[in-house]
Amino acid sequence: MIGVIVLLTLFTLPAFPSGFKWCAATSAHQIEGNNNASDWWLWELFPDHIRNGDFSGMAADHWNRLEEDTALLKSLNVTDYRLGIEWAKIEPKKGHWDFSALAHYLEELLLLRAHNIRPIITLNHFTIPQWFLDQGGWASPQAPELFERYTRVIYETFGDLATDWITLNEPLGYLAGGYLLGITPPGLKDIYKAIPPFVGMIRAHAAAYHAIHRLSERYGWKARVGVAHHFKVYEAYNSINPTDRIGAILIDDLANVSFPRALWEGRLRLLLPGLLNIDIAVPEAAKTQDFLGVNYYERKLVKFNSESPIFYDLVTREGAPVSDLGWEIYPEGLGKIALWLSSAYPGLPIFVTENGLDDASDSKRVKFIRDHLSVIKAAIDQGIHIEGYCHWSLMDNFEWVEGFTPRFGLFEVDYNTFERRPRPSAQVFAEIAGTNGAGL
Ligand code: BGC
Repeated sequence: MIGVIVLLTLFTLPAFPSGFKWCAATSAHQIEGNNNASDWWLWELFPDHIRNGDFSGMAADHWNRLEEDTALLKSLNVTDYRLGIEWAKIEPKKGHWDFSALAHYLEELLLLRAHNIRPIITLNHFTIPQWFLDQGGWASPQAPELFERYTRVIYETFGDLATDWITLNEPLGYLAGGYLLGITPPGLKDIYKAIPPFVGMIRAHAAAYHAIHRLSERYGWKARVGVAHHFKVYEAYNSINPTDRIGAILIDDLANVSFPRALWEGRLRLLLPGLLNIDIAVPEAAKTQDFLGVNYYERKLVKFNSESPIFYDLVTREGAPVSDLGWEIYPEGLGKIALWLSSAYPGLPIFVTENGLDDASDSKRVKFIRDHLSVIKAAIDQGIHIEGYCHWSLMDNFEWVEGFTPRFGLFEVDYNTFERRPRPSAQVFAEIAGTNGAGL
């Protein structure tokens, strides 16, 4: 009888492996406020840059609400919290270190540790100091050395307080927005101009990776370093149309594969027939990921369009369930990405560093969370090493070009009073996290 009960329990409770990391994620610029030495601060002042003319301003005023926001995390039962440290606040002028900003982050990290929440630190989440952009940003030959110097300051100061470090958030998303589509700083629309910052980001990541490991050995601290990559599932709009199929393969290679492959092989390889044929050795970047950060949101279908500058449109499947921004909700895609990563980069654990949706009415979030976690659980059961899940986002925040309209938070933020209110999905996520997935 007892055996039957145990068996039944095993089959009905989809508990995750012990030690699975339950996490919520944010970034500095999107919630802290007053990021006035960053490139986005200036960018947002232009009337046509941000939806409704929104301006990050005080964002969600997280800077002044550390205790309150740590309590939100605690109420979610998370084991980990992915947060950003803002380079523009730490080094607002080249070589000038702001000690009050360092002290502020120290307070935040100590608060998290005191509540038994492990910080996962992102060193760069899109925003850069304006002075760094003025001297060429990631395209500048000095970029790797300047990013390494900032990383060393941060790691020397906080290295004993965090084990997991993310150097760059979505470098390919950054390059696409800033150098191809021209919708984010520095606002360029030239694929050839994207190559120097592409190489610069690879080198900067490698420099930071090695610096953290050198220092962690010196001080006897444990450190793991990775990148939070942005992965979408790209599939042919018409699966029997060879042009759509080839487009999906090329776009997948450029938008998903090229960055992690470069960090695996130590060379940047890009091929877009008739447009790009790049092969640049970056040997110091080879094998510089201790885990693969996966930010996953949606699937896009690739449809040939001779009028489009890249000959293709990226469209959402008709009739698909979507978020408020119209992004397809496609949980199976996360399984496809995990399967690909586990075979392309054997031995590297996968960490879902972002997954979520904008859903102001909170009518889809619970199912979204459950379905994506079920896919993760199934992948783990197949032997794929997925070590944690960060929900994006802890609270509503400044959603870049979309301003304050999209609502990604487990907690709703009232931007007049900065009051935080839990959405019903926050309670569900807390139950799941608090039972290691048994409440799924
Ligand atoms: C970014 C976040 C952003 C989220 C939702 C991710 O690509 O890392 O900064 O808020 O997507 O758009």
